[in-house]
Amino acid sequence: MAAGLLAVSLTGCTIMSPSNHTSTITKTDFGTTPDGQAVELYTLRNSKGAEADIMTYGGIVQKLIMPDKDGKFADVVQGFDTVAGYTTGTYATNCAYFGALIGRYGNRIGGATFQLEGQTYTLAKNNNGNSLHGGLKGFDKQVWTGKGSVGAHGPQLVLAYVSKDGEEGFPGNLEVTAIYTLTEDNELKLEYTARTDKPTVLNLTHHSYFNLAGQGSGDILNHLVYINSDKTTPVDSTLITTGAFADVTGTPFDFRKPTAIGARINDPDPILQYGPGYDHNWVINKPLGKFGLMARVLEPNSGRVLEVWSDEPGLQFYTGNFLDGSLTGKDGKVYQRHYAFCMEPQHYPDSPNKPNFPSTELKPGQVFHNTIVYKFTTE
Ligand code: GLA
Repeated sequence: MAAGLLAVSLTGCTIMSPSNHTSTITKTDFGTTPDGQAVELYTLRNSKGAEADIMTYGGIVQKLIMPDKDGKFADVVQGFDTVAGYTTGTYATNCAYFGALIGRYGNRIGGATFQLEGQTYTLAKNNNGNSLHGGLKGFDKQVWTGKGSVGAHGPQLVLAYVSKDGEEGFPGNLEVTAIYTLTEDNELKLEYTARTDKPTVLNLTHHSYFNLAGQGSGDILNHLVYINSDKTTPVDSTLITTGAFADVTGTPFDFRKPTAIGARINDPDPILQYGPGYDHNWVINKPLGKFGLMARVLEPNSGRVLEVWSDEPGLQFYTGNFLDGSLTGKDGKVYQRHYAFCMEPQHYPDSPNKPNFPSTELKPGQVFHNTIVYKFTTE
């Protein structure tokens, strides 16, 4: 063990913290999947009292506890109290991807097919004839191996998964690492690395359902959203991109000035109503591959602010349009329509079939790397 680290063993868990502050990571057994795989839950805490609970099942952020402007803590993400909540019942069949790592391809691939280097690949169709979020059993439903430590930047969980050649129809054995860090600045940072042994495509993102007033506490229509973007990638009625770009000026997609989510969500704009509501990709105003601010969300009563930073070119902003009250989550909360929003930094939907979009190809010998930061402050 490195000098300066203190390890304390408790029954069934290990806590490690650098001697100069009190951030910790704790591991507990969290039950099993229906096919008998053991699931662990890692609790990351920083010295400010923020906490992220992350499962090895799907790399799911099961809890995320952040302070409001008066220092009062609340859980700001939707989820379930047990693994069974995620793997059984209504949720398992009507999957909403609460808090999960998303791959191999976040968002949709039209017709669940694409061509790469002269070969046609056919994927699992799980969304109106399209492939969504990696298929029937994407990264959100796999058990990852976990390793916790406390590093210079805070408690850190390293998750690893090997997706076999042909899994859900995608080519190449893909080795993926996802590292979550909870920093002293109340950032939940996610860094992906991936390598393949055959040419493939990938689009890795994260799918937490945020409600900055506290999970399950009501709808998010009063949250003020800023998105650093002048244009979107318009979609057809099955939410497949057309390949065009659309200027946001004068449309309900213009979030260049902070605007309440509810202000225009019922606007008759046909592309908005395909959602129905926001479920679209914004092209972020920054050079390709450069890390920068994508969006900022304020909940006026609690004063909680979420900033989303990434080096990805696009951001899917989704307003929980498919939540319908059929899911009861943590603390008995019933999740109704618009009770949460997602901010998914990503490449554009259906990029493998849109040659004019930034490429999502990964070749053997290349190392894929991206970073997503959810930063919490108050005002
Ligand atoms: C993404 C998609 C939505 C929906 C949710 C999960 O945000 O774009 O259409 O599938 O995930 O329900």
